[in-house]
Amino acid sequence: MIRPFPRSAVPRRLRLLLLLAPLHACERGPAVPAPAAAPYLDPSRPVDARVADLMSRMTLDEKLGQMAMVERTALPGDRAADLAAHGLGAVMSGGGSAPEPNTAAAWAEMYDDFQRAALGGRLRVPVLYAVDAIHGHNNVRGATIFPHNVGLGATRDPELLRRIGEATAAEIAGTGVDWTFAPCLCVARNERWGRSYESFGEDPEIAVSLATAVTGLQGARIGGSASSVLATAKHFLGDGGTTGGVDQGDTRLGEAELRRIHLPPFAEAVKRDVGAVMVSYSSWNGVPMHGHRYLVTDVLKGELGFRGIVLSDWGGIDRLDGAPHFSAADVRDAVNAGIDMVMVPVAYADFLEKLRAGVDSGAVPQERIDDAVRRILTRKFQLGLFERPFADRSLTATVGSAEHRALAREAVRRSLVLLRNDGVLPLRRTARVFVAGRHADDVGLQSGGWTLTWQGAAGDVTPGTTILAGIRAAVEGGGSVTHAPDGRGAAGHDVAVVVVGEGPYAEYAGDRTDELGLDPPDAVVLDRVRASGVPTVVVLVSGRPVVVTDRLPAWSALVAAWFPGTEGAGVADVLFGDHPPRGKLPVSWPRSAAQLPLNVGDPGYDPLFPYGFGLTYP
Ligand code: BGC
Ligand code: BGC
Repeated sequence: MIRPFPRSAVPRRLRLLLLLAPLHACERGPAVPAPAAAPYLDPSRPVDARVADLMSRMTLDEKLGQMAMVERTALPGDRAADLAAHGLGAVMSGGGSAPEPNTAAAWAEMYDDFQRAALGGRLRVPVLYAVDAIHGHNNVRGATIFPHNVGLGATRDPELLRRIGEATAAEIAGTGVDWTFAPCLCVARNERWGRSYESFGEDPEIAVSLATAVTGLQGARIGGSASSVLATAKHFLGDGGTTGGVDQGDTRLGEAELRRIHLPPFAEAVKRDVGAVMVSYSSWNGVPMHGHRYLVTDVLKGELGFRGIVLSDWGGIDRLDGAPHFSAADVRDAVNAGIDMVMVPVAYADFLEKLRAGVDSGAVPQERIDDAVRRILTRKFQLGLFERPFADRSLTATVGSAEHRALAREAVRRSLVLLRNDGVLPLRRTARVFVAGRHADDVGLQSGGWTLTWQGAAGDVTPGTTILAGIRAAVEGGGSVTHAPDGRGAAGHDVAVVVVGEGPYAEYAGDRTDELGLDPPDAVVLDRVRASGVPTVVVLVSGRPVVVTDRLPAWSALVAAWFPGTEGAGVADVLFGDHPPRGKLPVSWPRSAAQLPLNVGDPGYDPLFPYGFGLTYP
């Protein structure tokens, strides 16, 4: 039986011995044995040679298994053996899919269990485990939650993004996980889109420069350190350019424009040897990306020279033929388009059967399968998974560490964009501050979607510091803080800080076809505070610009805080002037929703606040 050992604690030679220890024999599979001394198990050999040796020993079914990514809940305890039986390539957690209890230690145990099951296979091929760690390791309770990408886009700071990637990778690796579905390098062109906050900004220049996140996550080289995890550039291609900002919609653009706006961040990620690229649910001029051979194979793999794994999105191949659930034709078309691994995510036996039939009939060429499996195994070898398959418990303590939280707080204060200030900011520490608004004291609301659950939720979803707690900690001397979420009782205070904005959302649930104004309950709170005559600082917590044109003249200051995450104290750092505001708008701020789509460089460009705008203190 193979015994768990941490990725780094066991000397290399001993690790090899442990790997070579006999595993329980597997009845399935062909005659070609995996001798204990097989070259692919020898870490001193070059990766290419190891991949070639391993592939020469694999049956067709074992190869096809590598091409499947399966959600963890599709492999409950008794089914974990399917990992070995089918030689499945990867397991994943969907948004909010976590072990019980949801602790870093339980994640590491769960990971090791899956890994042990996979290593029970005939050829002992380790499994990759993937998650959406898109603003920190956000499915794990207690993890550090960083601002969503739109806020990080406002920082314009490539080195900060690298450091955030590095910290996030340590938290991911501390739970055993090998791979994250991040960064989203989408260029959101219409803020009606519910995924706008996953975009670094409306101009490709920001996503290009912040692709340093890839290097942060992976390290200088994949597998170069214990905390190196695979990054995923997503979603290829044109996800942020759909007509009307409709999620999973159609991007109607000429090829030159598609390349100019949406391709550059992917080219940059490929230069950084990004581990994987995820294909977009959207279509380009009516053709679904999941079947787009020209863009996936010719452009991404050919022209850009991408060497990693092309991954489908969750059930993304299902609708290629227009009908729900994947058909044999869907499987064929997706794989032939150049998809290497399919996020099935549940019906893996059916997927493997259909893929096998496609290969048997000649509809899917054997070389296509070999190309896919070579890419997948190459990443596994590069990561060092064959030598260090188990969770590195020495990294587990970094999950939610003080050091990472300090970095997230820095990211928050760097992400804030000061849009208006009549001189009320910075606040005096001795001021009598009135705080209102439902977003003032709520870690869930300030973190947004993809936080513990897919859609996110209000409330104490995970440990963190609320914006209110940060303000309380900042006042001193004769200063005071009164908190009334509903905005009643502002009169008599020196200043009111009203924290309002959007509730949490993810993907299509966040698409907006309305006027993009404030929610009615927030407007009521603002009206109450306004009636008190106390100067008002509005802190807007949102994934995109909210239309505030008519209300703005009544406010003394407006700060766009985006979705800051767990470290709300970063807001007070700026409000009280410990740090000047430095964020610059990563998106154009419209006067009205009728202006959308509104992007820098448009003819007749006339936003309320232009792309790149951001005030600071004198
Ligand atoms: C999203 C991806 C995500 C995947 C896995 C899909 O619905 O589009 O961005 O990585 O789910 O959770
Ligand atoms: C999962 C997400 C996934 C989505 C796709 C949800 O149930 O949790 O990870 O992105 O489905 O629609």
